Amino acid sequence: MTHPRPIRVGVVGLGRGQTFIDQSTPIVGMELVAICDTWEERLVEFGAAHKVATYTDFEKFLEHDMDAVVLANYFHEHADFAIMALRAGKHVMSETAASFTPAQGAALVREVERSGLIYMFADNYPYMAYNQEMRRLYQEGAIGDFRYGEGEYVHPISAHLFNSIAMSPDHWRNWLPVTYYCSHSLAPVMFVTDTTPVKVSGFVIAHDPDDANKARTVRRMDTASMIVLTMDNGAIVKLLQYDLRGHGNYVRIVGNQGLMENGRGPLEDHLRVRREPFEKPAGVPVETSYLPDFPVFGREAAATGHGGGDFFMNYEFAQAIRTGVQPYFDVYKGVQMALVGALAYRSALEDNRSIVIPDLHDPAVLDAMANDHFSPDPADAGGDNPLPSVLGHVEPTPEGKAYAAEVWSRTDELLFGGGLWDR
Ligand SMILES: NC(=O)c1ccc[n+]([C@@H]2O[C@H](COP(=O)([O-])OP(=O)(O)OC[C@H]3O[C@@H](n4cnc5c(N)ncnc54)[C@H](O)[C@@H]3O)[C@@H](O)[C@H]2O)c1
Repeated sequence: MTHPRPIRVGVVGLGRGQTFIDQSTPIVGMELVAICDTWEERLVEFGAAHKVATYTDFEKFLEHDMDAVVLANYFHEHADFAIMALRAGKHVMSETAASFTPAQGAALVREVERSGLIYMFADNYPYMAYNQEMRRLYQEGAIGDFRYGEGEYVHPISAHLFNSIAMSPDHWRNWLPVTYYCSHSLAPVMFVTDTTPVKVSGFVIAHDPDDANKARTVRRMDTASMIVLTMDNGAIVKLLQYDLRGHGNYVRIVGNQGLMENGRGPLEDHLRVRREPFEKPAGVPVETSYLPDFPVFGREAAATGHGGGDFFMNYEFAQAIRTGVQPYFDVYKGVQMALVGALAYRSALEDNRSIVIPDLHDPAVLDAMANDHFSPDPADAGGDNPLPSVLGHVEPTPEGKAYAAEVWSRTDELLFGGGLWDR
């Protein structure tokens, strides 16, 4: 398939943003025309390699003649960038998280509604083969109606790698509270079951001063979080994320006629489906376990990162722009997930109380959210804003400060990341 007129895209942020650059393929129908990063060495290198315009200034970048912008800048700064891009007439695909404070979330929803442009929240995990297969099976009725689910994104990394990708004391990776990065565990559950969260309670596994790996970094947040959600059909969902030992991604979907889940460890890409012997339809096995394929574009997807999910995200964004129909992960779902992260932290600070996730289609809800500037960003400290750990101030160890400084001094290695992920 080729497209007569490619969608001209600009990418902001050349860490994760490199993925989008690599995938501006003919089948997706996108053409990279400009890149933006404040990190000049990185920018110049990538600009020369891809022969595209380069900008260090986001506002100047927005003046470039292009149709769409991909935001892969800092985790907590996406909403303001998205709003500026929409006002400049560009469609937006935004990395995690869609917004940081509830007030920013409301402003983002309003701007997408006002502009009529496409906004896509770019979580790639739902597009992994086993999650797409679970969605297909769920829609066929294979396990009945959704009643309970789990989503896990457990991602412990070495102190070396951590310091390499969190390149200053105030980089978001060194303070982001452990409930906020929840979209990789939540988005697959929403995608498979077509449900959305309406209530949240957050539980935090606190900072661990005896974790020797963490002590070699300058992180000031907690270890991990468990989030309990009620979905809009009454189902209960448990999310687990962040820095626990036991790396893995996991999704479990339980219906009132069966179960689907991906495997653990070496079987992570496998799918298990179980229907109980007392009620399964004739001819259907009790247990099935298999390695599912992508429904379409298997070859193209397999060549991309994150289990193929990255390809489908770009594909969905391009399709949305071409058809004028908002994508599955639209601004409402994106901001809902951001609210889960923020309100779960508020809940954890308030004895795990249950907090309602309001209906973002309601203008009165957006009015109320516009006054909620809850932020654990150390740059916003003061007033009612919390610190990034439920324990209060966490002082990095002298060893952590020294080791981080040593890693940060090797800028060549940091710039292009050669082999970093292996350590
Ligand atoms: N979906 C995934 O699998 C996945 C994986 C990694 C990162 N991410 C997300 O991608 C985003 C970026 O993360 P990252 O890993 O690349 O690390 P990062 O946040 O350190 O990188 C951000 C990049 O944006 C640039 N930048 C920051 N502010 C800028 C500005 N005002 N103007 C221009 N450029 C600016 C930085 O110089 C840096 O190169 C985050 O939101 C993160 O959550 C997603």
